[in-house]
Amino acid sequence: MKKDKVNCKTREDDLGHIVFSLINKECDRQTKMIGLIPSENHISPEVSEVLSSCLSSKYAEGYPHRRYYEGNQFVDEIEVLAQERIKKLFGVPHVNVQPYSGSPANGAIEFALLEPGDTMMGLALSGGGHLTHGHPKVTFSGKYFNSVQYGLDENARIDFEQVRELALKHKPKLIIAGNTAYPFELDFAKFREIADEVGAWLLADISHVTGLVVAEEHLSPVPFADVIMSTTHKTFRGPRGAMILVTQKGLDRDPDLGKKIDKAVFPALQGGPHNATTAGIAIAAEEAARPEFKKYGQQVRKNADVLAASLQEKGLKLVGGGTETHLMLLDLTPYGEGMGLQVAFAMDVAGLYANRNTIPHEPCSPFYPSGIRLGTPLVTSRGMKEKEMEQIADWIVAVVDEVKGEQLPSDKKERRQFIKDFRVKALKNEKLLAIRHEVETLAEKYPLFTWE
Ligand SMILES: Cc1ncc(COP(=O)(O)O)c(C=O)c1O
Repeated sequence: MKKDKVNCKTREDDLGHIVFSLINKECDRQTKMIGLIPSENHISPEVSEVLSSCLSSKYAEGYPHRRYYEGNQFVDEIEVLAQERIKKLFGVPHVNVQPYSGSPANGAIEFALLEPGDTMMGLALSGGGHLTHGHPKVTFSGKYFNSVQYGLDENARIDFEQVRELALKHKPKLIIAGNTAYPFELDFAKFREIADEVGAWLLADISHVTGLVVAEEHLSPVPFADVIMSTTHKTFRGPRGAMILVTQKGLDRDPDLGKKIDKAVFPALQGGPHNATTAGIAIAAEEAARPEFKKYGQQVRKNADVLAASLQEKGLKLVGGGTETHLMLLDLTPYGEGMGLQVAFAMDVAGLYANRNTIPHEPCSPFYPSGIRLGTPLVTSRGMKEKEMEQIADWIVAVVDEVKGEQLPSDKKERRQFIKDFRVKALKNEKLLAIRHEVETLAEKYPLFTWE
């Protein structure tokens, strides 16, 4: 990959068209800033290319060689290719690459394995789980199923004693092991033991760590789980989409499991597949099988370790004291409650984009949380290494230092105006703007995607 190859600019000569012009602005934003959102990644130019191909013009409801539309000879070949590559990469006997994204994929799995009202268990959002893992009241998974949520122990690790107690008490049909903001390795073996004790299905949602699993930097769920779900756009570095893998273990328990999953995706939940995405998954699977991808996964982990260590050496606090994956959670409570929004906005002004996040036992609220979620997949895709992580840690520490006095008012009615005023001030803050200049100088040296 050439250093100067940028994979997001579009029709330079057509800037008069508002959409192209906005895409180019977004490309500039990504190029000039440094992204630390752990669920994002920069796709390769090849994945980018197939996403804008003629495949978007084709309807292909059904599965390869069993479509409801004519003209799918080549789409069939592409989908089979994607399936075969994913099966080989993970060593599983069945895969579905049609889910539009991670949330509908989890929905399909839950509908395939459960009846409405059945009990399922997942990690609570406050502990770093995902909404689709049974978050009560507001999500389909918490509304249509009897959802029991487990949490973390005093060291911010999954509390397996609690998982076992809750499982024995509630006898769930499904246990989900997965993480969105939980920085430590998922112990699939322990989850399996508990699932076996109560006869539950085990779903491993590895959306965040797929790339690490492929690079052998995270325990693989394949020997333990019945079903595995992953988005394809996070550490896997493919297009926005998802895949559902059925393991041999799952098929041994129910030989029809693959068919049940397929039926739950289409026709139960979705219509025509997004063929361009399917092609992108086929390309990403080939890229992930290369030795360079293994190096990428290793570097993502090294970078995360260095970023976590540097932040802590320089005085910031991380939930659970560090990371075993690509992500970490800054705990800003030493500076007051609900500081996440101010720090995330100030980081953005300084050229570093991340997302505010609740921390375990959040003292404030999801809208005004007390943490920042950070991750290394984006910067590693650009070729940044340990030295740059130390520099990024310095900048984050300087940003926190600059805004740590901006305490969220305890009176809830005053908060909106406070944030409005804070934003106006932050946009003009000279210290933040000086950091932004330094960030841009570093970012300039790194293209959005490199295999190096
Ligand atoms: C663990 C996990 N599962 C599922 C999802 C949902 O994916 P999507 O946003 O593609 O619907 C996410 C996304 O953040 C996730 O982190």
